[in-house]
Order: sequence, then structure tokens, then C-alpha cells
Amino acid sequence: MTVRSDTFERSCEHWSDAGREEMEAFYELARVDYRYLAEAYHWTSAFQSLASRKIGGRLIDVACGSGKFPQALLASPGVADLSKSANFKLNYDLLDPSDFSLREAKQALAPPFHVGSEFCCTLQNWDEEAGLYDIAWATHALYCVPTEELEQGLARMCSALAQDGFGFIAQGMRDGHYVGFYDEYLASMTEGDGTPYSDGAQVEAALKNLGMHVRTRVLDYTTVVPADRPELLESYLQRCAFDDTFGLEEMLQREPLAGYLASCHDLDSGDYRFPQRVGMILFSHTEAGLTLRDAKVSGVD
Ligand SMILES: C[S@@+](CC[C@H](N)C(=O)[O-])C[C@H]1O[C@@H](n2cnc3c(N)ncnc32)[C@H](O)[C@@H]1O
Repeated sequence: MTVRSDTFERSCEHWSDAGREEMEAFYELARVDYRYLAEAYHWTSAFQSLASRKIGGRLIDVACGSGKFPQALLASPGVADLSKSANFKLNYDLLDPSDFSLREAKQALAPPFHVGSEFCCTLQNWDEEAGLYDIAWATHALYCVPTEELEQGLARMCSALAQDGFGFIAQGMRDGHYVGFYDEYLASMTEGDGTPYSDGAQVEAALKNLGMHVRTRVLDYTTVVPADRPELLESYLQRCAFDDTFGLEEMLQREPLAGYLASCHDLDSGDYRFPQRVGMILFSHTEAGLTLRDAKVSGVD
């Protein structure tokens, strides 16, 4: 049997130059995850209200990955224009244990986001400066923080936030594809050994335990892999588990993964349809800090 390293170690192996091709294939399907987050709130007004209080703001992107969220924001109407109309500048600090991710995210930034400090470490090991940030976000980012370490890691994000700042975390729910698939993967490929991904409800509970004001909305949509793209299906699923040592054939045979995949297989079209459920979690030290307004009430399909 293949000996696999655990979740966090495999994440680090794949967030690397060697994993670039696999990452790019994954984002053919997953880039839209970030567009939905960019469309879910009135981000431009949140930045504008920051601009009305001060000339520049400071933001930390925790587990920044390759910067798909700031890219999605920059592509949405209004955000890129802010730097012209309001002469507004947001110092954009990056945190990630992967040097590859830090390099990639830096390249994704454009005004009003200006590259600030970089922290090459895990959230749990971050030596944060208290009260420094107007905004702290982590989008599809904290899956590899084990549940028992979430509260300690999130305490760092909360402490880094200014009293009137706000945080935003997007994280899959246990009954959505990213976390649910990984549970099935662990049960099938590692006989249940290995650290599960943490989920959106666990993030929400940890923030409440820390005494934060929290507002959560769940976004539902479907990731569709067309019937005629079996290689894309294979590489997407491999990336979802940070494991390219098993192929599609094996996934379709090993239970309980095989049953999960069968439940996502639309027999009429031949497409695979993966149900996504993403917790979008706003938090702040005060109720008044939760000012970011919803742009859409329901999910997208
Ligand atoms: C899917 S990416 C995040 C995507 C990103 N938010 C974006 O906008 O593209 C996940 C990132 O989490 C990082 N990561 C994994 N474990 C971490 C931890 N304990 N603390 C901080 N970052 C971590 C990985 O190195 C990877 O770069």
C-alpha cells in the first residue's frame, strides 16, 4: 500500500513549482469559486467606507495561495477604479507557508491593492501585530488547519484585526464537495488515517468561542465536469485531495469514494456534478464592524 504523508505535508508538496500544471488544470474549474465570492458582497462600498475614514488601509490575506480572490475582485466592476477615483490604496500583506504561493499571489495584485509585507509561515505560527489590520481574509484557505488548531490560528487573525476592522473567511461546509470528497478519500485511500479538512461550521464555532461577532451565509452552486473531459475530472479530484498517486479508475472502484462519485454522476448527460456548499463568514470585534453588505441573497447554479 502507498504510504502517504498527511494532509498539511501533501498540501505543501503540491503548492510548489512542481505542482503548477496541476494547479492550473484545477483552476479551469475552481476559478469561479472566487468570482462567486467577489459577487456575494458589495466589496467596493466596503473599500469606499474605509477610504472615507483614511487614505490607506491595511489588509492581510491569510493562506493567500495564488491570489485568485484578489484577481476576481479586480475583475469585478468598481474595485480597480477605486485607485483612480478615490486615490485609495490598500496595503496588501500576504501570509502562506509556501514560498511558491507568496510569489504567485504577489503577481496577481494591482492597484488599489499594493504588495505589503510577506509572512512565510502557517497561520498557527504567525507572530501577528495586534490591531494592525482593517481587513483580514482567508478564502478557501484554512482546510489544512486541523480542527483542534483552528481556534488558536483564528485567535491570531482576530488579534491582528483593528477594533473597527472586519474579517472574512470562505470555507466549504462538510456536506459540500471540497470537504465531503476529502472525507470519502481518507476513508477509501488511507483507511481513515489522516487529518480531515476543517470545515466552515467549525470555523464559525471557533470564532464564536473567541468572542467575535459573526455573520454567516452559505453559498450553494455546482461544479460541472463535462462528460468528455475524463482527464480533467481525474486531475481535479487529485488536486482536491493533494494526491496524484491514485487514478480515476481506482477512485471509481474503491468504496466509499466510488459511491460518492456515482452519486455525482449525471447518467443522462454523462457529466459529473459536484455540489458545493461554502460558508461565507464575516466577523468583527463589534456588531458595528459587520458592515459589509450582501450583494446576493441566494446561491448560484
Ligand atoms: C487554495 S489556496 C488559497 C487560495 C487563495 N485564497 C486564493 O485567493 O487563491 C490554499 C493555501 O493555503 C496554504 N496553507 C495550507 N496550510 C496553511 C496553514 N496552516 N496556514 C496558512 N496557510 C496554509 C497553502 O500553502 C495554499 O497556498
